[in-house]
Amino acid sequence: MKLAIAGKGGTGKTTLAGTLARLFARDGYKVIAIDADPAMNLASTLGIAPDAASKIVPISENEDLIEERTGVRPGSSGSVFSLTPNVRDIADRYGVRGPDNTMLIVMGTVKSGGIGCMCPAHSLLRALMRHILIDRRDVVIMDMEAGLEHLGRGTVRGMDAILCVVEPRTQSVETAVRVSRLARDIGVKSILAVESKVRNEEEKSFLDKRLKEIGVPIIGSVPYDEAIAKSDMLRIAPIDFAPDSPVIKAIDAIRKSLIKIYA
Ligand SMILES: Nc1ncnc2c1ncn2[C@@H]1O[C@H](COP(=O)(O)OP(=O)(O)OP(=O)(O)O)[C@@H](O)[C@H]1O
Ligand SMILES: [Mg+2]
Repeated sequence: MKLAIAGKGGTGKTTLAGTLARLFARDGYKVIAIDADPAMNLASTLGIAPDAASKIVPISENEDLIEERTGVRPGSSGSVFSLTPNVRDIADRYGVRGPDNTMLIVMGTVKSGGIGCMCPAHSLLRALMRHILIDRRDVVIMDMEAGLEHLGRGTVRGMDAILCVVEPRTQSVETAVRVSRLARDIGVKSILAVESKVRNEEEKSFLDKRLKEIGVPIIGSVPYDEAIAKSDMLRIAPIDFAPDSPVIKAIDAIRKSLIKIYA
Protein backbone atom coordinates (compact mmCIF):
# COMPACT_ATOMS: atom_id res chain seq x y z
CA MET A 1 0.00 0.00 0.00
CA LYS A 2 1.58 3.23 -1.14
CA LEU A 3 0.13 6.46 0.11
CA ALA A 4 1.05 10.08 -0.45
CA ILE A 5 -0.27 12.68 1.95
CA ALA A 6 -1.08 16.10 0.52
CA GLY A 7 -3.11 19.15 1.42
CA LYS A 8 -2.90 22.80 2.35
CA GLY A 9 -0.26 23.97 4.80
CA GLY A 10 -0.85 23.27 8.46
CA THR A 11 -3.88 21.03 7.97
CA GLY A 12 -2.37 18.03 9.75
CA LYS A 13 -0.51 16.12 7.01
CA THR A 14 2.56 15.31 9.08
CA THR A 15 0.46 14.37 12.10
CA LEU A 16 -1.48 11.94 9.93
CA ALA A 17 1.63 10.55 8.19
CA GLY A 18 3.59 9.88 11.38
CA THR A 19 0.66 8.43 13.29
CA LEU A 20 -0.52 6.24 10.43
CA ALA A 21 3.02 4.90 10.03
CA ARG A 22 3.19 3.97 13.72
CA LEU A 23 -0.23 2.33 13.69
CA PHE A 24 0.49 0.25 10.58
CA ALA A 25 3.84 -0.81 12.06
CA ARG A 26 2.18 -1.86 15.34
CA ASP A 27 -0.17 -3.95 13.31
CA GLY A 28 2.82 -5.87 11.93
CA TYR A 29 3.29 -4.15 8.58
CA LYS A 30 6.73 -3.24 7.35
CA VAL A 31 6.52 0.53 7.06
CA ILE A 32 8.64 3.10 5.27
CA ALA A 33 7.82 6.71 6.07
CA ILE A 34 9.21 9.18 3.57
CA ASP A 35 9.72 12.79 4.46
CA ALA A 36 9.47 14.66 1.18
CA ASP A 37 8.83 18.04 2.81
CA PRO A 38 11.84 20.39 2.95
CA ALA A 39 10.68 21.40 6.44
CA MET A 40 11.54 17.83 7.51
CA ASN A 41 9.41 17.35 10.61
CA LEU A 42 8.08 13.86 10.07
CA ALA A 43 10.73 12.45 12.44
CA SER A 44 9.09 14.26 15.32
CA THR A 45 5.51 13.01 14.76
CA LEU A 46 6.92 9.55 14.13
CA GLY A 47 8.50 9.63 17.58
CA ILE A 48 12.21 10.01 16.85
CA ALA A 49 13.77 12.05 19.65
CA PRO A 50 14.77 15.63 18.71
CA ASP A 51 18.51 15.05 19.27
CA ALA A 52 18.51 11.96 17.04
CA ALA A 53 16.32 13.70 14.46
CA SER A 54 18.70 16.66 14.27
CA LYS A 55 21.50 14.31 13.23
CA ILE A 56 19.67 12.87 10.24
CA VAL A 57 21.39 13.74 6.97
CA PRO A 58 18.82 14.06 4.16
CA ILE A 59 19.63 11.94 1.11
CA SER A 60 19.88 15.09 -1.02
CA GLU A 61 22.66 16.43 1.22
CA ASN A 62 24.64 13.23 1.45
CA GLU A 63 27.31 14.23 -1.05
CA ASP A 64 29.42 11.12 -0.54
CA LEU A 65 26.44 8.89 -1.28
CA ILE A 66 25.45 10.94 -4.32
CA GLU A 67 28.98 10.76 -5.67
CA GLU A 68 29.29 7.05 -4.92
CA ARG A 69 26.08 6.21 -6.75
CA THR A 70 25.98 8.68 -9.63
CA GLY A 71 29.71 9.04 -10.18
CA VAL A 72 29.63 12.80 -9.75
CA ARG A 73 29.92 15.02 -6.72
CA PRO A 74 27.10 17.60 -6.45
CA GLY A 75 28.21 20.98 -7.66
CA SER A 76 30.96 19.78 -9.98
CA SER A 77 30.03 20.99 -13.44
CA GLY A 78 30.16 19.45 -16.84
CA SER A 79 30.56 15.86 -15.74
CA VAL A 80 28.53 12.95 -17.00
CA PHE A 81 26.63 11.23 -14.23
CA SER A 82 24.55 8.12 -14.02
CA LEU A 83 20.84 8.51 -14.66
CA THR A 84 20.22 5.04 -13.29
CA PRO A 85 22.16 4.93 -10.03
CA ASN A 86 22.00 1.82 -7.91
CA VAL A 87 19.57 2.58 -5.09
CA ARG A 88 18.50 -0.87 -3.93
CA ASP A 89 20.15 -0.78 -0.53
CA ILE A 90 19.62 2.89 0.25
CA ALA A 91 16.39 2.50 2.20
CA ASP A 92 17.94 -0.09 4.48
CA ARG A 93 21.32 1.57 4.84
CA TYR A 94 20.37 5.22 5.03
CA GLY A 95 16.92 4.99 6.54
CA VAL A 96 16.54 5.81 10.22
CA ARG A 97 14.75 3.42 12.55
CA GLY A 98 11.83 4.90 14.44
CA PRO A 99 9.66 3.45 17.22
CA ASP A 100 7.61 0.31 16.49
CA ASN A 101 10.24 -0.64 13.90
CA THR A 102 9.23 2.05 11.45
CA MET A 103 11.79 3.23 8.92
CA LEU A 104 12.17 6.91 8.05
CA ILE A 105 13.79 8.21 4.89
CA VAL A 106 14.40 11.93 4.72
CA MET A 107 14.65 12.96 1.08
CA GLY A 108 15.62 16.60 1.52
CA THR A 109 15.45 19.18 -1.22
CA VAL A 110 17.46 19.87 -4.28
CA LYS A 111 17.86 23.49 -5.26
CA SER A 112 16.24 23.32 -8.63
CA GLY A 113 17.81 24.92 -11.66
CA GLY A 114 14.35 25.18 -13.19
CA ILE A 115 11.86 22.89 -14.84
CA GLY A 116 13.42 19.67 -16.03
CA CYS A 117 16.61 20.38 -14.10
CA MET A 118 18.74 17.31 -13.83
CA CYS A 119 21.69 17.03 -11.51
CA PRO A 120 23.28 14.11 -9.64
CA ALA A 121 21.18 14.70 -6.51
CA HIS A 122 17.95 14.77 -8.52
CA SER A 123 18.95 11.66 -10.37
CA LEU A 124 19.53 9.80 -7.12
CA LEU A 125 16.31 10.99 -5.45
CA ARG A 126 14.28 10.15 -8.50
CA ALA A 127 15.73 6.66 -8.80
CA LEU A 128 15.25 6.08 -5.07
CA MET A 129 11.62 7.17 -5.20
CA ARG A 130 10.93 4.94 -8.20
CA HIS A 131 12.59 2.01 -6.50
CA ILE A 132 10.63 2.44 -3.28
CA LEU A 133 7.41 2.55 -5.27
CA ILE A 134 8.03 -0.68 -7.14
CA ASP A 135 9.74 -2.48 -4.28
CA ARG A 136 7.61 -4.97 -2.41
CA ARG A 137 7.12 -3.23 0.90
CA ASP A 138 4.00 -3.51 2.92
CA VAL A 139 3.32 0.16 3.48
CA VAL A 140 4.90 3.35 2.14
CA ILE A 141 3.67 6.67 3.51
CA MET A 142 5.00 9.86 1.99
CA ASP A 143 4.55 13.18 3.76
CA MET A 144 4.54 15.91 1.15
CA GLU A 145 5.05 19.63 1.33
CA ALA A 146 2.09 21.94 1.20
CA GLY A 147 2.85 23.08 -2.34
CA LEU A 148 1.92 20.86 -5.22
CA GLU A 149 5.44 20.61 -6.67
CA HIS A 150 5.69 16.89 -6.07
CA LEU A 151 2.47 16.30 -7.93
CA GLY A 152 3.77 18.44 -10.75
CA ARG A 153 7.02 16.57 -10.91
CA GLY A 154 5.18 13.27 -10.98
CA THR A 155 6.83 11.87 -7.87
CA VAL A 156 3.55 10.36 -6.84
CA ARG A 157 2.93 8.43 -10.02
CA GLY A 158 2.81 4.85 -8.81
CA MET A 159 1.13 5.69 -5.52
CA ASP A 160 -2.04 3.73 -4.77
CA ALA A 161 -3.73 6.75 -3.32
CA ILE A 162 -3.28 10.35 -2.38
CA LEU A 163 -4.79 11.23 0.96
CA CYS A 164 -5.71 14.88 0.88
CA VAL A 165 -5.98 16.39 4.35
CA VAL A 166 -8.72 19.01 4.52
CA GLU A 167 -9.60 21.42 7.32
CA PRO A 168 -13.07 22.95 7.54
CA ARG A 169 -11.89 26.06 5.69
CA THR A 170 -12.73 27.23 2.17
CA GLN A 171 -9.07 27.60 1.18
CA SER A 172 -8.33 24.08 2.33
CA VAL A 173 -11.19 22.68 0.23
CA GLU A 174 -9.89 24.66 -2.75
CA THR A 175 -6.49 23.06 -2.34
CA ALA A 176 -8.23 19.68 -2.39
CA VAL A 177 -9.83 20.57 -5.72
CA ARG A 178 -6.40 21.35 -7.18
CA VAL A 179 -4.80 18.25 -5.68
CA SER A 180 -7.49 16.00 -7.10
CA ARG A 181 -7.26 17.58 -10.57
CA LEU A 182 -3.49 17.24 -10.67
CA ALA A 183 -3.61 13.70 -9.32
CA ARG A 184 -6.07 12.67 -12.01
CA ASP A 185 -3.93 14.34 -14.68
CA ILE A 186 -0.89 12.29 -13.70
CA GLY A 187 -2.90 9.10 -13.43
CA VAL A 188 -3.15 8.45 -9.68
CA LYS A 189 -6.28 6.34 -9.46
CA SER A 190 -7.49 7.21 -6.04
CA ILE A 191 -7.80 10.51 -4.20
CA LEU A 192 -9.34 10.32 -0.76
CA ALA A 193 -10.09 13.16 1.63
CA VAL A 194 -9.22 13.10 5.31
CA GLU A 195 -11.22 15.63 7.26
CA SER A 196 -8.98 17.25 9.85
CA LYS A 197 -9.29 19.43 12.97
CA VAL A 198 -13.05 19.15 12.98
CA ARG A 199 -14.37 20.93 16.09
CA ASN A 200 -18.14 20.45 15.87
CA GLU A 201 -21.10 19.23 13.84
CA GLU A 202 -21.29 22.44 11.87
CA GLU A 203 -17.71 22.05 10.68
CA LYS A 204 -18.30 18.39 9.93
CA SER A 205 -21.34 19.08 7.76
CA PHE A 206 -19.52 21.93 6.00
CA LEU A 207 -16.75 19.53 5.00
CA ASP A 208 -19.10 16.66 4.13
CA LYS A 209 -21.10 18.94 1.85
CA ARG A 210 -18.14 20.64 0.15
CA LEU A 211 -16.23 17.38 -0.41
CA LYS A 212 -19.32 15.80 -1.91
CA GLU A 213 -19.69 18.77 -4.27
CA ILE A 214 -16.11 18.46 -5.48
CA GLY A 215 -16.43 14.69 -5.79
CA VAL A 216 -13.67 13.58 -3.45
CA PRO A 217 -14.65 10.58 -1.29
CA ILE A 218 -13.99 10.84 2.44
CA ILE A 219 -11.91 8.09 4.07
CA GLY A 220 -12.19 9.44 7.59
CA SER A 221 -12.70 12.40 9.88
CA VAL A 222 -10.19 13.52 12.49
CA PRO A 223 -11.45 15.77 15.28
CA TYR A 224 -9.60 18.73 16.77
CA ASP A 225 -7.86 17.90 20.03
CA GLU A 226 -5.81 20.36 22.07
CA ALA A 227 -3.56 17.51 23.22
CA ILE A 228 -2.26 17.05 19.68
CA ALA A 229 -1.32 20.71 19.35
CA LYS A 230 0.39 20.41 22.72
CA SER A 231 2.37 17.34 21.65
CA ASP A 232 3.78 19.44 18.82
CA MET A 233 4.96 22.14 21.21
CA LEU A 234 6.61 19.49 23.38
CA ARG A 235 8.06 17.75 20.28
CA ILE A 236 6.61 14.42 21.37
CA ALA A 237 4.87 12.17 18.84
CA PRO A 238 1.06 12.53 19.13
CA ILE A 239 0.70 8.76 19.51
CA ASP A 240 3.13 8.76 22.47
CA PHE A 241 1.87 11.91 24.12
CA ALA A 242 -1.86 11.28 23.81
CA PRO A 243 -2.38 7.61 22.91
CA ASP A 244 -6.04 7.72 23.96
CA SER A 245 -6.87 10.89 22.05
CA PRO A 246 -9.88 10.73 19.73
CA VAL A 247 -7.43 11.87 17.05
CA ILE A 248 -5.44 8.64 17.36
CA LYS A 249 -8.66 6.61 17.32
CA ALA A 250 -9.84 8.40 14.18
CA ILE A 251 -6.51 7.79 12.43
CA ASP A 252 -6.68 4.14 13.41
CA ALA A 253 -10.13 3.93 11.85
CA ILE A 254 -8.61 5.39 8.66
CA ARG A 255 -5.91 2.71 8.79
CA LYS A 256 -8.57 0.00 8.99
CA SER A 257 -10.51 1.46 6.08
CA LEU A 258 -7.33 1.63 3.99
CA ILE A 259 -6.60 -2.02 4.72
CA LYS A 260 -10.08 -2.94 3.55
CA ILE A 261 -9.54 -1.10 0.28
CA TYR A 262 -5.90 -1.87 -0.54
CA ALA A 263 -4.62 -4.88 1.40
N1 LIG B 1 -6.42 16.92 14.93
C1 LIG B 1 -5.68 17.90 15.43
N2 LIG B 1 -6.08 18.58 16.55
C2 LIG B 1 -5.33 19.58 17.04
N3 LIG B 1 -4.19 20.02 16.52
C3 LIG B 1 -3.74 19.39 15.41
C4 LIG B 1 -4.44 18.31 14.81
N4 LIG B 1 -3.74 17.88 13.73
C5 LIG B 1 -2.65 18.65 13.66
N5 LIG B 1 -2.63 19.57 14.67
C6 LIG B 1 -1.63 20.59 14.94
O1 LIG B 1 -1.63 21.50 13.84
C7 LIG B 1 -0.29 21.89 13.53
C8 LIG B 1 0.01 21.51 12.08
O2 LIG B 1 -0.06 20.10 11.98
P1 LIG B 1 0.89 19.31 10.98
O3 LIG B 1 2.30 19.72 11.15
O4 LIG B 1 0.55 17.87 11.09
O5 LIG B 1 0.32 19.89 9.62
P2 LIG B 1 0.99 19.89 8.17
O6 LIG B 1 -0.16 19.88 7.22
O7 LIG B 1 1.98 18.80 8.08
O8 LIG B 1 1.73 21.30 8.15
P3 LIG B 1 2.81 21.81 7.08
O9 LIG B 1 2.02 22.18 5.85
O10 LIG B 1 3.42 22.99 7.75
O11 LIG B 1 3.76 20.69 6.83
C9 LIG B 1 0.61 21.20 14.54
O12 LIG B 1 0.83 22.08 15.60
C10 LIG B 1 -0.23 20.02 14.99
O13 LIG B 1 0.10 19.59 16.28
MG1 LIG C 1 3.98 18.84 7.51
